[in-house]
Amino acid sequence: MSSMLDLFHAWHWQIVAVVFSLLVLVVCSFHGSRTSSLRLPPGPSEPPLGHHGPRKIAQWINEYGPVISLNKGKDVLVIVGRYQEAIDIMEKQGASLADRPRSVAGSEILGRGMRFVQIGSGERIRKFRKASHTHLQLKSAQTYEPAQFAYARDIILDLLDSPRLHQLHIKRFAASVILRIVYGKTTPTLLSDPFLLQLQKMIPRVQSAMMPGTYLVDKYPILKYIPGYGRNLLAWREEEYEMLSGKLNWVKSQVESNVAADSVAKDLLVHHDDNQLSEMETTYLSGSLIGAGADTVSKDSHIDNTQPNMREIIDCCRDLNAPTFEDWSRLVQLQAFILEALRWRPVNPIGLPHRASKDIIWNGMTIPAGATVFGNHWSISRDPDVYHNPEVFDPQRWIGTDGEIKDNMRLFTFGFGRRACPGLHVANRSVYIAAALVLWSFTVTEDPSNPIDDTAFVPGIVSHQKPFSLVFKPRMSEASLKIFFSSTAV
Ligand code: HEM
Repeated sequence: MSSMLDLFHAWHWQIVAVVFSLLVLVVCSFHGSRTSSLRLPPGPSEPPLGHHGPRKIAQWINEYGPVISLNKGKDVLVIVGRYQEAIDIMEKQGASLADRPRSVAGSEILGRGMRFVQIGSGERIRKFRKASHTHLQLKSAQTYEPAQFAYARDIILDLLDSPRLHQLHIKRFAASVILRIVYGKTTPTLLSDPFLLQLQKMIPRVQSAMMPGTYLVDKYPILKYIPGYGRNLLAWREEEYEMLSGKLNWVKSQVESNVAADSVAKDLLVHHDDNQLSEMETTYLSGSLIGAGADTVSKDSHIDNTQPNMREIIDCCRDLNAPTFEDWSRLVQLQAFILEALRWRPVNPIGLPHRASKDIIWNGMTIPAGATVFGNHWSISRDPDVYHNPEVFDPQRWIGTDGEIKDNMRLFTFGFGRRACPGLHVANRSVYIAAALVLWSFTVTEDPSNPIDDTAFVPGIVSHQKPFSLVFKPRMSEASLKIFFSSTAV
């Protein structure tokens, strides 16, 4: 009897094994047939990895349609390149696109899994977004306006001193604002500030590591366990951590001495029990805001003969009353000018990658779970059905027949859905006040001896203009401008 039982057990386990294998087979073949029966959006036969520039992608969108895909094996890259599809996919399906694709080099190694913009779905991103929302939402952003105004005044003084360095002055402005908000730095920030110099070194490293295909480890993650692999990434990680933790320690000491100015970092340190962030997370959250805020806002615009209708700014702010935040809603031409600058030359032309966490069906096609999905800002903001003559720089396209900014035409410059930029209120305020004061103080024209090449941008996640010349002619005597901007109280 017992041998019968033994036999039964042995046989029973064989059956279980066979059934299990069958199941695996069925699941695999079902999955295989499912994958092969999925109709991906059309696209060129190019590999999904590697850097494809915005103009190349725009050609593909024109050729294949509003949503394209590139794939190799199970790697699928989907690019959304038109306005309505951005709404239908990137926004309406935002819950399925709140994740980020895995990035071994940029996120896991270089950023210890804590670089805000690369954190995948889960508890950490929820904490980061919640904590940053507290400090970057509209109400909080309004409290930074006096500081933004003060630093924008410095741009005018800097331009009077050295107009040729206009791109650097804007950089200094962006850095001053973000260092004030994040770390409570109230002393003047010079571009020779060691922290900024380090930041300048770090940003290209981070952005290059974020581009899929730069490092082999993104394709073969096992490499990260090979001793000696990615020595430079590890060295840069330590350098970055020292730099960011140095800043946080400075805030900590200011808090301990009761002299800390209000700031994001101070608040995160003081309320760390509420927001459940470890010290390491606080270090990276603060540092990520600096990286995101300093590099994006510092893109100054091509303002020559396209500058907004100056009568508007001059009429609104006569008798040495420079524009303030109070004038913003009235300066419709200026608002339209800024919107058009951000549309015409988007700050992040190719967008940032999202990851589909489940299959998204669109127009009979499937964006499969696991696909990397980009909303391509360059192509979306050139959708001819929405932006007539898209290559033409035309601020008037933003103004309705009632003379106000149209409320039915959107700009996706701050991204999409649940991962849209949390810094938009701060960014919009910085861009507005800097542009308003510069245009009130100077007529800005192209330098006839050095014409602007408006296609000369450094490629990358954030695209910056290559150096270009402008002529700044003060609208009043230099002395008056100097006195006015040196003496205006914050
Ligand atoms: C003109 C200036 C700016 C532009 C055009 C811009 C644009 C963007 C874009 C396109 C994204 C990605 C959205 C997506 O994945 O769909 C993003 C993310 C982000 N931005 Fe900005 N940004 C600007 C300024 C700022 C500022 C000033 C801050 C901080 C104060 C900031 C903080 C961030 C952060 C933390 C993220 C990551 C959000 C996430 O992954 O959940 N940005 N930004």
